[in-house]
Amino acid sequence: MSPGGRRGVVGVSPGTWRGVIEEFREFLPVTRETPVVTLLEGNTPLVESRVLSARIGRRLLIKVEGANPTGSFKDRGMTVAISKALEARSRAVVCASTGNTAASAAAYSARAGLPCFVIVPAGGVAMGKMAQALVHGAEAVSVRGTFDDAMELARTVTEQMSLTLVNSLNPHRLEGQKTVAFEICDALGRVPDLIALPVGNAGNITALWRGLAAYHERGRIAALPTLLGVQAAGAAPLVEGRRIGVPQTVASAIRGGKPAARKPAGGAGQASPGEFTKVTDEEILETQALLAREEGIFVEPASATGVAGLLRRAAEGTLPDGEVAVAIVTGHGLKDVDTALGRVRIPPPVRASFESVARVIEGVIGR
Ligand code: F0G
Repeated sequence: MSPGGRRGVVGVSPGTWRGVIEEFREFLPVTRETPVVTLLEGNTPLVESRVLSARIGRRLLIKVEGANPTGSFKDRGMTVAISKALEARSRAVVCASTGNTAASAAAYSARAGLPCFVIVPAGGVAMGKMAQALVHGAEAVSVRGTFDDAMELARTVTEQMSLTLVNSLNPHRLEGQKTVAFEICDALGRVPDLIALPVGNAGNITALWRGLAAYHERGRIAALPTLLGVQAAGAAPLVEGRRIGVPQTVASAIRGGKPAARKPAGGAGQASPGEFTKVTDEEILETQALLAREEGIFVEPASATGVAGLLRRAAEGTLPDGEVAVAIVTGHGLKDVDTALGRVRIPPPVRASFESVARVIEGVIGR
């Protein structure tokens, strides 16, 4: 291995995962001159479902993107976007965010030594994500408005002030996010028949499709899958075919009414055989609980949306054909504990004695 091949990754031993830029360099817009800013993102678990497979009548695997360094899929795109911003000698990076983009931009900017500004809708960001952005040293601008207002402002500010926008409108972000497609196909040894995922701005579904198309073009996979993009019912502009002025859903990460990615799921001139569907907040929260209790996977509400879409389609009998399905769960549950704690009960304290603790245990499992 030449030293150049390990650029930016200090002290890794052979066989160690090197982050998505080094692992998939030939598919990404980087050169030997690009300074690689990485937290060794990617290589996330593809977990065989324990109980949900039976519910949908397909083999189901769950791609756990919450296992990325900042707890969401955004890191795949951010490593490329921040590396390119550094290469371009950007003065500062800016994003609008419902939280995950902000957390990721803040962490990668910290690593790159770049100033980072995150524009967030006041009251619209889960506390875990807000903490991440601030602890990593980003400057937060909280605006009285929706995510879509924040997005508009981020675009204007970056244009007028010649700063780098690191939302998914930044083409480098989507390039990096393509890599989830590569990992799914590599791990399975084939392309799945169906991939379900949550959709907000439709950046990720577009990136996924581009990744699949790239692998298909190179002959690494024999076919292209059907994509199922799932939106929350109160924030479903792509399902309803219209802008939503004040989007509402418990899934704050995908609370948007005006998708920023202009051509959802279309890439390299190909139309996706994709479908969009919507699910209610109740379905989202039930699926979040199901994933946690039955599969051992704690995801944030937005991330449960894709799986909820699969369950709904299966119940309706309208699930697209195919044997093997993958659901991408996009962000970690710890990012939004306030919502999660709304569905469980924190127990009142008992006396610190054997008897008190044993009584609780017996109450549940008996002697
Ligand atoms: N899942 C999670 C956990 C997200 O944070 C997002 C988007 C999506 C899905 C949807 O992805 O927008 O590419 O269709 N979060 C953005 C943010 C809006 O600011 O973190 P998309």
